[in-house]
Amino acid sequence: MLRSVILAASRSGKVEKFVGSAPVSRDVVRRFVAGTGTPDALRVTGELAGSGLRTTLDYLGEDTLTPEQASVTRDEYLTLLAALREAELTGVAEVSVKLSALGQAFDEDLAETNARAICAAAAEAGTTVTLDMEDHTTADSTLTILNSLRKDYPSTGAVLQSYLRRTEQDCRELATAGSRVRLCKGAYSEPEHVAYQSALDVDKSYVRCMNVLMAGQGYPMLATHDPRLIAIGEDRARWFDRGPDEFEFQLLYGVRPEEQRRLVREGYHVRVYVPYGTEWYGYLMRRLAERPANMMFFARALASK
Ligand code: FDA
Repeated sequence: MLRSVILAASRSGKVEKFVGSAPVSRDVVRRFVAGTGTPDALRVTGELAGSGLRTTLDYLGEDTLTPEQASVTRDEYLTLLAALREAELTGVAEVSVKLSALGQAFDEDLAETNARAICAAAAEAGTTVTLDMEDHTTADSTLTILNSLRKDYPSTGAVLQSYLRRTEQDCRELATAGSRVRLCKGAYSEPEHVAYQSALDVDKSYVRCMNVLMAGQGYPMLATHDPRLIAIGEDRARWFDRGPDEFEFQLLYGVRPEEQRRLVREGYHVRVYVPYGTEWYGYLMRRLAERPANMMFFARALASK
């Protein structure tokens, strides 16, 4: 119930205005967002690399409504990739891209063209791109664009969400050699006919999907903070005899940092999803919806100002 309310608020311009104007926002946002610009993304990438952590960088922005806005996002990624290359950080950092930020809602061809330019720059810089997955209405379009991009840039990664009923089948189709698949639970409010509604069903689906990916030929990226699922991931790595170079764990910036370091100490590859930019509102609200304790952290911070 609380999750649905927060997710509804994540799409509300009025609530965004209120939250954005609250004096406390900056402190709260800083916990989950690296900062506003490319230098912040590079700084945090360097800091995390010092702890043995890799990153995937997300320039915040979604639901772009004009081609001009989409070009700005594309150009931000091109600037970021050039800066990562210059700073010799492409060995530890890749980028995550939302197609909605590149124009998917009004022109799928434009979104693909923009994504292609980012993939080309990433390939030139010696790193990779992963396409984030958004709400279920975009899944077919995103996977179609992914398949097209992978013809020229085979390392382009996909995200699949275990809350969607279709995902086990999508995992089967994508568990092929050279395919990079990030498996997460899913962060949007989805209707019953397309998505499991109970946490238990979402978790059970996650395990089924993980089994398919870990048994397959691709490179699974297990994106979760859930201790039980992380333990099952470690178990499946042993069972399917996957070494550290054959899969990775992924967690969000600011969430369970001590667990991120523990996994590194255990010898696993761990990648932290690091968002940066000024359009932090939708991202932050999804993080708050995931965990009531985060909501309390936010409320306490508001009350203390
Ligand atoms: P969940 O939120 O159910 O939490 C399970 C347990 O984890 C909790 O009970 C608690 O024990 C622990 N936990 C969680 N948060 C904690 C915290 N702050 N402190 C301590 N313990 C905590 N979604 C999407 O729809 N599209 C996408 O493209 C992506 N991309 C993505 C990339 C990466 C790298 C990650 C990690 C996640 C995403 N997501 C995503 C978000 C994802 O779908 C999901 O909403 C969140 O990861 C939360 O789900 P968990 O698996 O962490 O479990």
